Amino acid sequence: MHYFDHASTSFPKPQEVIERMQSYLTQFGVSPGRGSYQLSQRAEELVEEARGKLAKVLKIKEVNHIAFTMNATHGLNIVIKGYLQPKDHVLICGYSHNAALRPLDRLKRERGVTYDVIPVDQKGQIDLALFRQKLTSTTRLFIATGASNVIGVKADFKEAFGLCRSAGVKILFDSTPSLGYQDVDMESIDFVVGTGHKSLLGPSGVGFLYVKNASDLPPYIEGGSHGNHAMSLEHPEKMPYKFEAGTINTVGIAGLLGALDYIHEKTFARLAERALAFTEMIWKEISCLDTIVLYGTDEIARKVPIISFNLKRIIPSQIAAELDKKYNICVRSGLHCAPLIHKFLGTLPTGCVRISTGHQNSEEEVALLIEAIKKIH
Ligand SMILES: Cc1ncc(COP(=O)(O)O)c(C=O)c1O
Repeated sequence: MHYFDHASTSFPKPQEVIERMQSYLTQFGVSPGRGSYQLSQRAEELVEEARGKLAKVLKIKEVNHIAFTMNATHGLNIVIKGYLQPKDHVLICGYSHNAALRPLDRLKRERGVTYDVIPVDQKGQIDLALFRQKLTSTTRLFIATGASNVIGVKADFKEAFGLCRSAGVKILFDSTPSLGYQDVDMESIDFVVGTGHKSLLGPSGVGFLYVKNASDLPPYIEGGSHGNHAMSLEHPEKMPYKFEAGTINTVGIAGLLGALDYIHEKTFARLAERALAFTEMIWKEISCLDTIVLYGTDEIARKVPIISFNLKRIIPSQIAAELDKKYNICVRSGLHCAPLIHKFLGTLPTGCVRISTGHQNSEEEVALLIEAIKKIH
């Protein structure tokens, strides 16, 4: 089996992930911080060690402003549904995923929230003229996605962020496809969400939310927690407990801790370099095919390790099925939960084939994939 769907989830996970999860489950798999006994304290220490290491990777000094969530979707829902008030106006970039778009559109139907989509082109440039035009006195939030999960291009939001700051508009940054590939000053952003199972290499079911000012948001789920006396009927306002109600995914966090150790040892930069080198190789080889349509840019400095393409005359699902059945190659096809960019590219309704490489791939696998695409074409 040759896996080229790392943008869906990274696979296989580092051995450190499995070992950390196993040691937690077999040696101290109890609720963190709920008991005063030593085992519970050990579980608590594990959670805080993971939070500290995650903060280092994200270059965030205020460790406690990072809450563990289920995934990026969870974080996006917390911010979008917690921050926006009836009739607020939102700007959302064209690289957005349904994880942001759907909760936002629900608020449009239920709270009269309005929003404008600001396109980002295939080189990562946002339409600044339109951004300026649509930024009004009722605009309260800009939802920015670091890179397109479809075309694998990083967005350049420098000026858009500057405009938001001058206008007092908060920024919600979805780091999901760009984490590890883009240097962003997270602490200058109001809300940052991310997921643990993609470039962070952890298991599914764990993600994060960074909130600069805890008072910007109400708690999303309330219940048992750290931070307030059990007799209080109010959920704590204090970060990170404000967003960590109920028993958190400690085994997932244990896995993430293993992944963070792995990333620390190998370095994000080297892992990213290897994944991108494979992307570059594939792009170079398949771009020569006469029936291929490639999306995005070949400028590797602007990319995350994703290539999307179509072959004229063969629908994407057929290409993916053939790669799977004949060559044991896993790629994704169709619409990748990001309808705005598909509309922009004109790839509705069938979408495109998406190859996403990882540092786990080998040169041999890459050669096999290139040959297979050449044969199918
Ligand atoms: C841009 C973007 N945001 C959010 C998500 C949601 O991530 P998760 O499913 O881990 O919540 C994805 C998933 O592919 C994504 O590509």
